[in-house]
Amino acid sequence: MAEKFNRATFTRSFLRHITRIKAPDEMLAEAKDGGLEKTLGVWDLIILGVGAIIGSGIFAVVGIAAAGSADGSSLGAGPALMVSMIIAAIACVFSALCYSEFATMIPVAGGAYTYTFATLGEFAAWMVGWVLMLEYAIGFIAVACAWSNYFMQFLQLFADKLPAWVTDVTANAWLTNDVFSVGDMVAKNPDIFVPRILGVPICINLPAILIVLLMTAILVKGTKDSAKMAGLMVFIKLAVIALFIFVGAVSFVHTPPNWTPFAPHGMAGIFSAAFLIFFAYIGFDALATAAEECKNPQKDLPIGIIGSLLVTTVVYVLVALVLTGMVNTAGPVPTSFLDAPMVYCMKLIHHDSLACLISVGSLAGLTSVLLVLEMAATRILYAMSRDHFISQRFLKLHPKFKTPALLTWTVGILAVVGILTLNLNVAAELCNYGTFASFIVVCVAVLILRHTDPERPRPFKVPFSPWVPALGIICCGGLMIYKSMEAGSSALLFPVWLGIGAIIYLLYGFIKNRNNENKIHNELVHGKEE
Ligand code: ALA
Repeated sequence: MAEKFNRATFTRSFLRHITRIKAPDEMLAEAKDGGLEKTLGVWDLIILGVGAIIGSGIFAVVGIAAAGSADGSSLGAGPALMVSMIIAAIACVFSALCYSEFATMIPVAGGAYTYTFATLGEFAAWMVGWVLMLEYAIGFIAVACAWSNYFMQFLQLFADKLPAWVTDVTANAWLTNDVFSVGDMVAKNPDIFVPRILGVPICINLPAILIVLLMTAILVKGTKDSAKMAGLMVFIKLAVIALFIFVGAVSFVHTPPNWTPFAPHGMAGIFSAAFLIFFAYIGFDALATAAEECKNPQKDLPIGIIGSLLVTTVVYVLVALVLTGMVNTAGPVPTSFLDAPMVYCMKLIHHDSLACLISVGSLAGLTSVLLVLEMAATRILYAMSRDHFISQRFLKLHPKFKTPALLTWTVGILAVVGILTLNLNVAAELCNYGTFASFIVVCVAVLILRHTDPERPRPFKVPFSPWVPALGIICCGGLMIYKSMEAGSSALLFPVWLGIGAIIYLLYGFIKNRNNENKIHNELVHGKEE
């Protein structure tokens, strides 16, 4: 006779399943048998960290942070930009310390996703994994589109030597960013050639697609090779930034710096810029996702995470000093300053060849950001596959390169689909939301595990707990609420993204996990009967 449905029993069992915690020891044991190859040392980590952090934030966003947006929706900090840089860095340091405690305690792939599984349970872990896809996978798509824009700006420098079909951004379907801009392009110029599917114009954005495929191939080839490539890119971008700081500072000898008034829009301008510039610091957390590939994670990871954040803060403050010294950011500035501020400054003092070098540096910077973001996305999905949330096929490593090749190519192909469909600005804002949410969860998770598992060895401990994690929660939560109060599509899209994630969990992840539990149970029972 069929058992009678009991709602209370069902609810209890459901709640027990979705709050099921995966013990850190179980995670460590899994990573030990058949985990990823351990190839990364402390310098590789610092290079990967700086590689992930310094990108479009300092090469582009910094212009609006200093002078405000052209439409007036965002106030600029003016010369007080350096203060905004330090505020954003402090907000990141709280979370970075919490990431370091976890990364040294549970050095396995997955970052914030893994830490959530160890503290808040199965459903929360799935949701964090899903949110991290906003930070890493959607961020990867946004940076790939930004890379494509920079590449086109770079080609413009040679507009007189190259054919128009290569450089004319307004008339080429192969350079457009998304379905919206291709629609606008056709509306403005119905005669231009645009490929169509069933009569619908489609965009191509060839540079973005090619760079994504190239990054994917490099990642499949190996994490160590990827770190080497990131090293080269980091060297180029740091050299270019150093040159900018030096040449810019020397120019003050002839023209006094524009540092007064120091904060033309007061604290409102400083905080608005701090919020914007937070994007420029995103990336240090990606190091925690590669913990399983570190030779000595307990010692090297905190140095890698905090070290790359410190190096970046020093670089950013120096750039802010020079930028705001060279250009009067208290008043209106030209659009070219907002698009590419460093390039604008070098043109201002007639260093055109240096302006060209800065374009190359920007491309190098964005390339290394792309590499680390894609690596982080695959490592989180790898951990989720190990936990039976997604197909186990993704765990298979390449026989020669020992990297999750199928998973990496899947992420690469999905990113190409994203490039063809997503709006760049919305993608970048969603990326910020994902980051804030994951930072908050990691700070909360540190507090929980300190309470539930106080005896566990912690090779690195967050100092002044619970104050530091609490300040991390307040800073990131404050920035998230501040952003949500602005009218914008991404503020609405974030809860939609969370809702889709919850539905997928219930219809797929939850069932897959239960099937796996049943399989293990049957094997045990069967084994005993034999
Ligand atoms: N911090 C990274 C950048 O600025 C995301 O591009």
